[in-house]
Amino acid sequence: MTLRKPLPHDSARQHVTGAARYLDDIPLPANALHLAFGLSPIARGRIASLDLDAVRTAPGVVRVWTHADLPSDCDCSPSAHDEPLLSDGTLHYQGQPVFLVAATSHRAARRAALLATLETLAETPILTIEQALDADSRFESGPVIWSRGDAAGAIATAPRRVDGLLEMGGQEHFYLEGQAAAALPQDDGTLHVHSSTQHPSEIQHKVAHALHLAMHDVRVETRRMGGGFGGKESQGNALAIACAVVAQATGRPAKMRYDRDDDFIITGKRHDFRIRYKAGFDEDGHLLGIDFIHYTRCGWAQDLSLPVADRAMLHADNAYWLPNVRIESHRLKTNTQSATAYRGFGGPQGVLGIERVVDHVAHVLNLDPLVVRQRNYYAPSGSVSERTSGGAPAPCSAAPRTPGSISEAEKQVVPDPEAELTSRGGPQDAGAAPAVPAGVQTTPYGQPVEGFILHEMTERLAERAEYHARRARIAEWNAANPVLKRGIALSPVKFGISFTLTHLNQAGALVHVYHDGSILMNHGGTEMGQGLFQKVAQVAAHGFGVPLDAVRITATDTAKVPNTSATAASSGSDLNGAAVANACAAIRARMAAHLASVHGVEPDAVRFADGRVIAGKTTMSFAEAAALCYQARISLSAAGYYATPEISWDRMRGHGRPFYYFAHGAAVTEVVLDTLTGENRILRTDILHDCGASLNPALDVGQIEGGYVQGAGWLTTEELVWDDHGRLRTHAPSTYKIPACSDRPDVFNVSLWDGENHVPTVGRSKAVGEPPFMLGISAFLALSDALAACGDAYPSLDAPATPERLLAAFGSLRGTGG
Ligand code: MTE
Ligand code: MOS
Repeated sequence: MTLRKPLPHDSARQHVTGAARYLDDIPLPANALHLAFGLSPIARGRIASLDLDAVRTAPGVVRVWTHADLPSDCDCSPSAHDEPLLSDGTLHYQGQPVFLVAATSHRAARRAALLATLETLAETPILTIEQALDADSRFESGPVIWSRGDAAGAIATAPRRVDGLLEMGGQEHFYLEGQAAAALPQDDGTLHVHSSTQHPSEIQHKVAHALHLAMHDVRVETRRMGGGFGGKESQGNALAIACAVVAQATGRPAKMRYDRDDDFIITGKRHDFRIRYKAGFDEDGHLLGIDFIHYTRCGWAQDLSLPVADRAMLHADNAYWLPNVRIESHRLKTNTQSATAYRGFGGPQGVLGIERVVDHVAHVLNLDPLVVRQRNYYAPSGSVSERTSGGAPAPCSAAPRTPGSISEAEKQVVPDPEAELTSRGGPQDAGAAPAVPAGVQTTPYGQPVEGFILHEMTERLAERAEYHARRARIAEWNAANPVLKRGIALSPVKFGISFTLTHLNQAGALVHVYHDGSILMNHGGTEMGQGLFQKVAQVAAHGFGVPLDAVRITATDTAKVPNTSATAASSGSDLNGAAVANACAAIRARMAAHLASVHGVEPDAVRFADGRVIAGKTTMSFAEAAALCYQARISLSAAGYYATPEISWDRMRGHGRPFYYFAHGAAVTEVVLDTLTGENRILRTDILHDCGASLNPALDVGQIEGGYVQGAGWLTTEELVWDDHGRLRTHAPSTYKIPACSDRPDVFNVSLWDGENHVPTVGRSKAVGEPPFMLGISAFLALSDALAACGDAYPSLDAPATPERLLAAFGSLRGTGG
């Protein structure tokens, strides 16, 4: 059994010895060219004149491109076709690529790019949310509004009310390997592109489009990324297209990688949000009505902003039943980097909004925030809460558990012909109203909340982490300590799994069995450190009952599996694992049929286990079985396909079942805060997380630890600062602080919930990539809790809670309540 084993990452050894080959390590022919962009010095305006003579004559420079020199319609956008590779004369942000240099070395290209004489006609940039609202600068004609019930009425008539405003900053992806691409021209006019991308099919499509080639003329390969975190869903397009343009024009291989500062300055980040909230509740803390306004700063181009803002809305409930709710979302266009996907894809911003509200409600009522959370949790599916009217309990829809065999779930999807086929952003899918089993509550967008396990998980976590006892001890400690204050918080996450653009929920795989019994596996997912390849290899080994070393993992390659989706939305192992399982099942069935006929048994009686194949009384090695099948001319290669069943979504109405299922988790964080300096530390974190029946508990725990720390970093130390001219001032590790090893909690207990997915995913596992990121919210709430010990008012704290912000919040508490 290879499934469910806590095996290390397949490249762990190469990662730690430095042997793992990243894009920049791939040897290129000696005549390769190296590229650099010249960047806009201003945030908004026009190019008055551009003199590139000094660039052209600089040492090593081979050729220089401006917008006019490019093939027509060289666009990098994953959605709206609004991102020319090089400025067309209009300047949209400080850092926008204006011209392209190809030189004989990376250094020569970068040095030459600084020699341009660029004169600009500057205009006043639109940088902030206020400025964007004043100028009505936005994507889409107005705000998107989804609602259920009568939020305003419920708030007006509620016994108690709170309102507030919460700002949360963006986040730099800070993948250790920066953006990089290389293009190698082939002898037939086609291109072989290497790209550090989460989305090889998108790179293929964008390169083909830019060069006026067909997709079959462009082959994209991605062995691994040194981190992507959403930042390589669309932000690699520019580099790959630039390399392709140069390779096609010169006939020479071309490579581009951004220096760290350029990577910060050019590429998009997490969307910063402002959330305004109003909530009405009863004396017990039950939320009766809630109204959110999300202001999302999207930057200059649309990129994936619409689906990101949608996902923030879709997670405005997090784990809580909201009978009357209204969510309004403004997608604001600003002269900053085009904000993009980042782990959670807007979900974290939406979740922080409601978590802050629940925390605020608890403060006003002087209740333990955990108690208020539990009171507002969705009813466990199949039970009827006292706040739900009528309906008999319904059992959750559990299909028989059949690890690895998901072919019944295989279903053809019909792509929407109007939809942009590559992005996560295109038009909505036609959605049908999901059937709601009796006694099951629904999300604000009408999806039944089935398999909701946060009640039990929270109980168990609170007990293991001794939440209540520690809360009491912290109160005593705070009473005795005037300077250092401690805080504790438990926060949950319920995260929807599936792409909200329904047609993206499909995947393909290609599996070969060679006649020596070795297996070669390929699928459309990409490896960015998360361990997808290892998990899917475990599925393949399980499929043939062979040890893991019989399976060779290979690079993602658009020539092997076509039309893939980005490895994103945490769905990599769900989709590609199932596609591989289907491919293996097809080959296994052919082998079984042949061996059954030879040995006079039923195909069902042929078993594949422990590296052996058993057909009736005959036992042979898997290799012998493969050789026999080969000699009998049985095909030992198969393509596998999977499409997620049962999902549908009407984005305009904000209604449907966008998610196949939800993943859950909860975290308790304890912090200590120095109220004289604002410095703080996480003392202890306890996490209980739901990976269903984990395919690989070691990798899943790694994702949980990393996700939590990255989420806590977003809300504490990672701060992006733009000046009044729209220049990003935090563009290197010297000024932008991601958590280091030393910032990890001193005590860090992570465990997995020992359940299984209630829907038939591969091995009944659940996606894990993004959900734990939101557990970092407990660190922010714990800091707020420490501040709350310093005064009577609810702490006014924005994110990231840097020492400066904590000190300011402390000062305002002292000024008012304390
Ligand atoms: N883990 C590592 N080590 N590196 C990454 O870049 N990206 C995250 C998450 N975990 C990431 C990671 C994001 S944003 C997503 S969507 C998922 O991994 C994608 O992979 P999966 O679908 O295989 O979980
Ligand atoms: Mo992850 S933000 O879906 O790449």
